[in-house]
Amino acid sequence: MFYLPMNLLKMLTSFLLFLSLFHFLTEAREADLVLLHDSGEAVCLDGSPPGYYYRPGVGADANNWILHLEGGGWCPNEDNCLDRSKGTLGSSKNWTQTTSFSGFLSDEQEYNPDFYQWNVVFLKYCDGASFAGYVAEPVNVKGTNIYFRGFKILQLILQSVMDKGMSNAKEVILTGCSAGGLATYIHTNYVKSLLSPTVKFHAIADAGYFIDAPDVNGEWYIRTFYSDVFNMQNCSDGVNQDCIAAYKGTNETWKCFMAQYTYPHISSPIFSFNSQVDTWQLVAILKLECKPPNCTEEQMKQFFNFYEEFKKASEPIVSSTVNGAFLDSCLAHCQTLDNQGWAVRSVQNQTGATTFGNWYFERSGLKNIADCSYPCNKSC
Ligand SMILES: *[C@@H]1O[C@H](CO)[C@@H](O)[C@H](O)[C@H]1NC(C)=O
Ligand SMILES: *[C@@H]1O[C@H](CO)[C@@H](O)[C@H](O)[C@H]1NC(C)=O
Ligand SMILES: *[C@@H]1O[C@H](CO)[C@@H](O)[C@H](O)[C@H]1NC(C)=O
Ligand SMILES: *[C@@H]1O[C@H](CO)[C@@H](O)[C@H](O)[C@H]1NC(C)=O
Ligand SMILES: *[C@@H]1O[C@H](CO)[C@@H](O)[C@H](O)[C@H]1NC(C)=O
Repeated sequence: MFYLPMNLLKMLTSFLLFLSLFHFLTEAREADLVLLHDSGEAVCLDGSPPGYYYRPGVGADANNWILHLEGGGWCPNEDNCLDRSKGTLGSSKNWTQTTSFSGFLSDEQEYNPDFYQWNVVFLKYCDGASFAGYVAEPVNVKGTNIYFRGFKILQLILQSVMDKGMSNAKEVILTGCSAGGLATYIHTNYVKSLLSPTVKFHAIADAGYFIDAPDVNGEWYIRTFYSDVFNMQNCSDGVNQDCIAAYKGTNETWKCFMAQYTYPHISSPIFSFNSQVDTWQLVAILKLECKPPNCTEEQMKQFFNFYEEFKKASEPIVSSTVNGAFLDSCLAHCQTLDNQGWAVRSVQNQTGATTFGNWYFERSGLKNIADCSYPCNKSC
């Protein structure tokens, strides 16, 4: 007859329990897709339902929430938006059921000691205008209808997240990178307005400080680009309303779609995480056709001029006594989203993760740092 001694059975059971616990502790927790069907006017460029990934918070941080606005450039004209509507940045049709995160959104204590237990909401970007547009009617492009509804998407997702438990939040951090970093600057006042005044609300914008500067030919290309996006998608009600009020009666309300002009109108604490020689800006704003240091002398001169332009434009960040910053001089873009950029790379011997933590938790130590000039930083 088959028979296991009681002690052995107990040992086996606790060993199995131990294994499953160990598995639970080491496995990166996945975030699940929440698609918002029957979303009314709030649809992606192609008319498909918008959505977000959600990973619940645990332990002491079960009531603390990170809201991450996804990035991925912009579409500046209707043809370009039609193209975008056929991919994952304009349609939810191919979004995966689950995903996982690194850096500031990581659930690994080793890389993200302060925030690894927080709720993470990753708002999917599918409108082409940093969650800011609203055009009531569908736009017919070459026989296909597309939709400019980013601000409606933001509103709908935030409502859904409130229902999921954010209405009981103790702390909320708004973040995002690239087009989502710009969205962080643009929407921080709005997100704060939805929360109870007792909630601790801060923001951290990653690689969203796209500066208004001329390109290598002396042309002001990027401001035309952003004003095109802003006007085409009717963004004036979907950006910082204090900024819009400040430019009222001028033909420059599009400036509220650029971080440096919106920045003075942000009414809650914000941390800027940005390279001073951001690789996307070098290509798309400066239009530099080489990768430093592999450039001609003339190109390197233009590169350093751009660095000076960035320093000028970021002066209000660096001089702020309330806001924090980590402005490194690494050739990079979107550094909070990987472990290297968040928890390894450093300025003045301090990582971005530590700098943000010092600022957010009011610890001693540096809270607002700007790097020495490229190529001084050996941790890049
Ligand atoms: C979805 O994926 C298929 C197969 O790769 C591709 O043909 C299609 O264009 C994709 N559609 C969207 C909207 O992403
Ligand atoms: C532009 O946005 C405003 C405010 O959301 C809205 O009332 C108006 O209908 C929009 N214009 C168009 C052309 O859709
Ligand atoms: C905006 O107004 C300024 C001065 O009033 C003018 O020089 C400029 O051309 C106008 N820009 C546009 C895009 O209309
Ligand atoms: C610059 O050129 C060298 C030699 O061709 C190459 O090894 C290096 O990767 C290049 N650097 C960049 C940033 O492209
Ligand atoms: C940099 O920081 C580390 C860890 O805080 C410390 O051990 C090291 O001595 C510091 N190095 C310098 C050059 O300050």
